[in-house]
Parts: sequence; structure tokens; C-alpha cells
Amino acid sequence: MVELEQLVLSTLAGAGEIEDTFTFAEAQSVDHQALVGVIKSLHGDGYVEQVALSAQLWSLTVEGEAFVNEGSPEYRVYSAVKGGENADGMEMSSIQEALGDIVKIGLGPCMKNKWLSKKGEKIVLVDASKMVEDETSKMLSAIANNTNMPSDKDLAALKKRKLVNSIVRKSLNVKKGTNYREKRVKKMADLTKEMLEANNWGDMEFKNVNLNAMGTQGTGGNFHPLLKVRAEFRRILMEMGFEEMPTNKWVESSFWNFDSLFQPQSHPARDAHDTFFMKGESGTTRSLPEDYYEKVKTIHEGGGFESIGYGCNFKREETCKNLLRTHTTAISAQMLYKLAQETKVNNGVFTPKKFFSVDRVFRNEAMDATHLCEFHQVEGLVADRNLTLGNLIGTIKTFFEKIGISQVRFKPAYNPYTEPSMEIFGYHPELKKWTEIGNSGMFRPEMLRPMGLPSDVRVIAWGLSLERPTMIKYRIENIRDLFGHKADIKAQANAPIARF
Ligand code: PHE
Repeated sequence: MVELEQLVLSTLAGAGEIEDTFTFAEAQSVDHQALVGVIKSLHGDGYVEQVALSAQLWSLTVEGEAFVNEGSPEYRVYSAVKGGENADGMEMSSIQEALGDIVKIGLGPCMKNKWLSKKGEKIVLVDASKMVEDETSKMLSAIANNTNMPSDKDLAALKKRKLVNSIVRKSLNVKKGTNYREKRVKKMADLTKEMLEANNWGDMEFKNVNLNAMGTQGTGGNFHPLLKVRAEFRRILMEMGFEEMPTNKWVESSFWNFDSLFQPQSHPARDAHDTFFMKGESGTTRSLPEDYYEKVKTIHEGGGFESIGYGCNFKREETCKNLLRTHTTAISAQMLYKLAQETKVNNGVFTPKKFFSVDRVFRNEAMDATHLCEFHQVEGLVADRNLTLGNLIGTIKTFFEKIGISQVRFKPAYNPYTEPSMEIFGYHPELKKWTEIGNSGMFRPEMLRPMGLPSDVRVIAWGLSLERPTMIKYRIENIRDLFGHKADIKAQANAPIARF
């Protein structure tokens, strides 16, 4: 490299110019590519000026070379007929016999040039006195010798006949630049501590800083897989006509999280082992709708609307315990209560609704590879008159189909607030097994009637975690690799996406 660089600089010092790098490289027996590389680098520092050259070069193909050696097929056909010396011409078969297959190539041009013509069964000279030369092979040898180059038109015609090839040769013309010197001084990129210590930076040259250069592309800003899947679910649910519920609070009262859902106050899920209760918040719950509270208390204690209730002693103290919500069904309950209030205000005119949410819930559970104490719940519900279990199954099938799970099965289950209740299983084609993907049911009259909803209004609902389908989709095996500070968002952003 350094030698090549010095060769260029010394040549310029002497001759003042390298006319054409290609011929120069040939003469000096150096690699042209390497030479151009060195010149580009010198040009970058202003040592040289360069002008791009391009030359079109022609070479003969194997067939073209054969034409030079043996004569062109048209000339050979012509010569055969002429050599025959027969005034009445030659039979096609005898020409073929003498020359073989090239007759097929040569006869056409002979006719076109009016050297030969057809007379009955024979091929005859058009004009015996006419001087005919083998122009084609003459042009080809001219090309081979690089003298008297044919016209562009002729070259194009020869190329079309695949007798010649053309290549464009790119090279440079090089002269001294404004910063030319006989020896190259290496420019420093940075001022270093060592230069300052040695105090020799004053003798050095530094590279210019290009303040207009584009910065490198930032690598941040990948979307979290959970957000991507959430966005997809949200789009699907909106497309199905669902409205998003305002779930923007994590602390909830036991009233909305459990009582309004007809979950008995003695239910084991309400134990501190399963639920995170707020410290010091007990009894301070504000804004309970008192008349509705009374109705909830009544249905729990003594029943109503054809239910016998739990026959328990309903305690306000239990109701007022605040907690981190264990499901977004707490919000569904509030939305349905609001819907019942609106129906009352509108003199019993009920408006059917479809609601959904995707938000965080908390459970005081043992953590393992697939469980954390917080996760996201996707929840959907439809409230309308006379809905049936068929509507629930149909809605769930449509939703899961849209998120890519086309095979679903249902299994009877139990929830305090739904009857019937069904667990939802989806078939995972890669794992070749059915896995539980959600829970669903029709909200009980014990939940809906105390709210004041008309007796024929049914509510179908389902819930699933956002994490599980995301883990399947991004092939993540441990939930801690998805949720929390250990998530490698960048790797997941590029991870292959599996269908499920
Ligand atoms: N709340 C239930 C859960 O936490 C999900 C669900 C929602 C079930 C609505 C039935 C109806 O799993």
C-alpha cells in the first residue's frame, strides 16, 4: 500500500500526471484495483486530482475468431458458388456438401447483399464481374488488432451476431492536487493524551471534522413484544365493534373486585395468600354507591331474584378493604353498573354494549417460569338482551380465530360470577397439544340484577392473559424474559414470530 502510494506520488513529481491508471498499472505491473484504491485515499486528502475515464473495449467471441481464421460464412458460401465456375450456378445440396452447416448462416447475408440469388433449383452469382470482399472478417480482424475500428453501427451489428463482446473499462486520469507533497503525512483522527504528554501535537496534521456528516442510526426504540401483541388485540377487538374500558387504576376496592361479582366474602381467593391487600387502606374506601351496596349485601346474605344467596354475614369492613385488582372484571362490573344506571335514566331503554380492556392485574401467587404476581389481562364482554351460550362460543371463536388460534375447545368450569362457565383451550400446532388459553362465562343474575339491568339482559364475557399468547408467538420460555427489567427487547424485536 505504502509502496503504491509512493509510486503514485513520485510519478506525479516527475511526469506531473498519470494519464490513464489502466495503462499505468499495466506498465508498472501493479493491480489496477489496488492502484485506484490508493488514489482515492490520496484524493480524500487533496494530494491528487482525479478525472474519471471510461473506454469501451471490444473483443472477439470464439465464433468471431473463427470467422477471422476461416472467413465469414457468407464469404465462404459466396466463394463456393463463385469457385464452382458454373454459369448456371450450384445445387444447394452440393454447397451443403462442400461447407456443411455454415451454409445456413452464410446464405442469408449473400442474398441480402445481392451477391447470390436463386434461379430455379440453383444458387447463382448475381453479377460475376462484381468485386466482393469478406467485409465481416476484415472488420473482425480490425477489432482484434485495435486499428481502423468499424463504425458504431457495424459494431452493433457484429455484437448482435454475437461475434464481438464489449466491455466498458473505467480508469482515472490523475494530476497533483492542492495538498500535493512528495511524501504522505498521515493525518491524526484524534488529539490523544499521549500527544499532549509528549507535546508533539503541534507537528501533526489532523483530519477535518465533518460537521455535516449524518449521525449513526440509533439502535433504541424497539417496541416491547407485549405492546405489539396488545396493539394487535386492540385493533382486532375494535374491528369487532368493542369499546375500550377505562382501566387506568390498579387499586380497587374489594367491593368491585369481589362483592359486586357475587364472590362470597369467605371465598378462599379473597385470602391474603392470593390477593395483595393495601396496608392501612382498610375501611377508607370512598364513593361506594350506597343503594347498590345495600342490594349487593342483600343478595349475598339472603338471596333474591330466585337465588338463595350465600346465607352469610356480609361485612362492610371486608367490602372496604382495598387491594391491587386481581382481574379487570372489577372494571367490567363498574361498566355494567353504569350501563344499568343509564338504562334507568333513559326510562328503561337499554343500549347493547361491547366492551374490552387489556391491562395489568395482580395475584399473590408463587412465581415460576410461567407465573408472575402481575400480568396483563385481556377482557371482553357483550351485554345485550337474550344472549345465549351460543353467542358466547361464537364470539370467542371469532376473536381467537382473528388472533391466529383457529382450533378452540371448551371445558365446563366454575367462577363465582358466571354460570355457565367455560375454560377455553386452544390447539398449539407446534407443541401438538391443547393448552388452556382463557376463561369465560355468562354473568350470573346475582351479579346483574342487583345492578338494575333489565331481566332479559344477558352478559357474555371472557378473559385471558396477554403474556401467554405473546410467549407462544415469540417462543419465549420463561415469563421473566418477557416481563420486567430482564426482557431483551432488541432480541425479541428481531426474533422469528411463531404462529399459534
Ligand atoms: N376474571 C376471570 C379471570 O380472572 C376471567 C373471566 C372474565 C371469566 C369474564 C369469565 C368472564 O380469569
